[in-house]
Amino acid sequence: MPRVHDVHDGCAVRAMALHAEAFGASHAQVGCASGRVNLIGDHIDYAGGPVLPMALHEQTWVAIAPARGEVDRFTSEWRGDDQPQAADGSDAMGWDRYAAGVLAELRAARRAIPPVTIAVASDVPVGAGLSSSAALEVAVARAAIGLIGGTMPARDIALLCQRAEHMHAGTPCGIMDQWCVTHARAGEAILLDCAALASTPVALPRGLAIDIIDSGVRHALRDGGYAARRADVEAAARLLGVAQLADLAAARWSEIDALPPRLARRARHVVRECARVRAAVEALATEDLTRFGELLLESHASLRDDFDVSTPEIDAIVERVRGEGALGARMTGGGFGGCVIVARRADAVRGDAG
Ligand code: GLA
Repeated sequence: MPRVHDVHDGCAVRAMALHAEAFGASHAQVGCASGRVNLIGDHIDYAGGPVLPMALHEQTWVAIAPARGEVDRFTSEWRGDDQPQAADGSDAMGWDRYAAGVLAELRAARRAIPPVTIAVASDVPVGAGLSSSAALEVAVARAAIGLIGGTMPARDIALLCQRAEHMHAGTPCGIMDQWCVTHARAGEAILLDCAALASTPVALPRGLAIDIIDSGVRHALRDGGYAARRADVEAAARLLGVAQLADLAAARWSEIDALPPRLARRARHVVRECARVRAAVEALATEDLTRFGELLLESHASLRDDFDVSTPEIDAIVERVRGEGALGARMTGGGFGGCVIVARRADAVRGDAG
């Protein structure tokens, strides 16, 4: 019989073993979801912009079974210091808030999820800007829905998990991560229109190699900074009289320049980043790798200078790989640490290896 979970057997088996060890139940159901890396288009999903994320091969697996008692119980292989942070960045918050939030939202949506035991194993690095929280949320949702023999459209799972993150984890995230995790196959890039909530796969040219470098920086204030940036973007939209900043025509530069200086910089980033995503899709379609690399560098400069979400460590990695001949590189995800995404020519990578 073919193996169902080929590549990820390791992680699935770890989740099931952990579940059996912690809760003694032998017949757990499993659910999984991938992490994601964003190629370009950061901090514009909640402004209604287009984004270009790609699902990773690294996954999170959840083993779930009905609990004997009346309450949900959770365990994971994460150590305390690997856990997601509270919204205000101050106190460490258990990852189980994300899992419990998804269960609460499923029950609020009248899905008859009984009290459950949940064990989590993950190959997605936590706090690295690779969507470990969306992977956890979606894996929990899929496992819990599977447990009751139900189904739910991918779009509804994405929106439910986003709501869980807003309501129970306190992060006012956009829809990019949960949508990518529920709609893209591992290794597949998608163009997502965050206003229309519609996505299409985007083929990457064979000559392009994508690399992810983890800075190792995990900023405690990440989520507080994230909420502040989102508030700035919404304030700028209000002052400019548009529902979402992505609706703003680039032609309104004089009005953008007249905003209070910080809001002007935030708005400038959003308007230009939306244009860069569209240009990046065009560059990929025409296999113009040089242009694609330039767009990554411009995106990084904008996130660093206008959006203030990069760090010196991340900037240093971008400069280093640029000096080493990469086509381009940028911070990826929410920022304040995490990973750099690097674009190189595939023949250059093969040359290095050989
Ligand atoms: C986090 C959020 C996303 C998105 C990115 C920045 O990953 O969860 O919704 O806003 O930051 O692009």
